[in-house]
Amino acid sequence: MALFPIMTGETSSGAPFVLSRLRRQDLPQIVEAFHNLELTTYLRGFGFSASEAEQAEWLEANLKGTPQQVMFGIYDAAETLIGSVALRDIDHRVGTAELGIALYDPAHWGQGYGPAATRLICQYGAFHLGLYNIMLKVFAFNERAIRAYRKVGFQEIGRRSGAVRLGQERFDEVYMELLTEGLDVSGLRGQLRQLAQNLSVQAEGY
Ligand SMILES: CC(C)(COP(=O)(O)OP(=O)(O)OC[C@H]1O[C@@H](n2cnc3c(N)ncnc32)[C@H](O)[C@@H]1OP(=O)(O)O)[C@@H](O)C(=O)NCCC(=O)NCCS
Repeated sequence: MALFPIMTGETSSGAPFVLSRLRRQDLPQIVEAFHNLELTTYLRGFGFSASEAEQAEWLEANLKGTPQQVMFGIYDAAETLIGSVALRDIDHRVGTAELGIALYDPAHWGQGYGPAATRLICQYGAFHLGLYNIMLKVFAFNERAIRAYRKVGFQEIGRRSGAVRLGQERFDEVYMELLTEGLDVSGLRGQLRQLAQNLSVQAEGY
């Protein structure tokens, strides 16, 4: 199936990427990625690796989406799937959700895709879903992720002490939140093209 970009973005160093719905043909890349215990640890799957059947079940469930969850694949300029980003536990009444993100190949870590994709899905959540507060949980030892989230504007709101155990060591789980009122959604608004122009015309009339 062809890739149908939903939104476009670029990293701080100018590398373009798109957010698009995941496709069944992405399964082999996802299976390969989830054989990396470092990745699955960051994603709270301690010691977890997925067989093709297990991962196919996960993909099938996420292809459908629900009112409480939106998930996009992150694809680079060559249309290679490099990760996924999601808003989960969406509460449309109060405007809250929880963010999750994973870049699948460690070769892509540290290149700025994470904060850029996080920012874009938060803008999407604010503009299209009316979200007010997006939170996330991250392990205290995942310094790369914490730095990436801070770049987007997430701030620590608390810690659950020792809630993560790795071998004989315990680590805190860090809670972070982003209030979307501070987000610039003009880029996303511009991606609506004709609609954005019409909205501007109407707004000028008031
Ligand atoms: C977490 C993640 C989304 C961050 O995205 P990213 O594109 O790698 O983020 P960045 O490229 O902005 O790098 C983040 C920062 O961490 C720094 N960093 C890189 N490796 C690091 C390390 N081992 N320890 C500490 N900081 C590190 C980078 O230098 C960068 O900081 P800087 O821009 O101030 O120099 C991505 O790395 C990822 O998917 N990791 C695996 C899954 C995961 O951890 N998901 C989050 C679960 S809560």
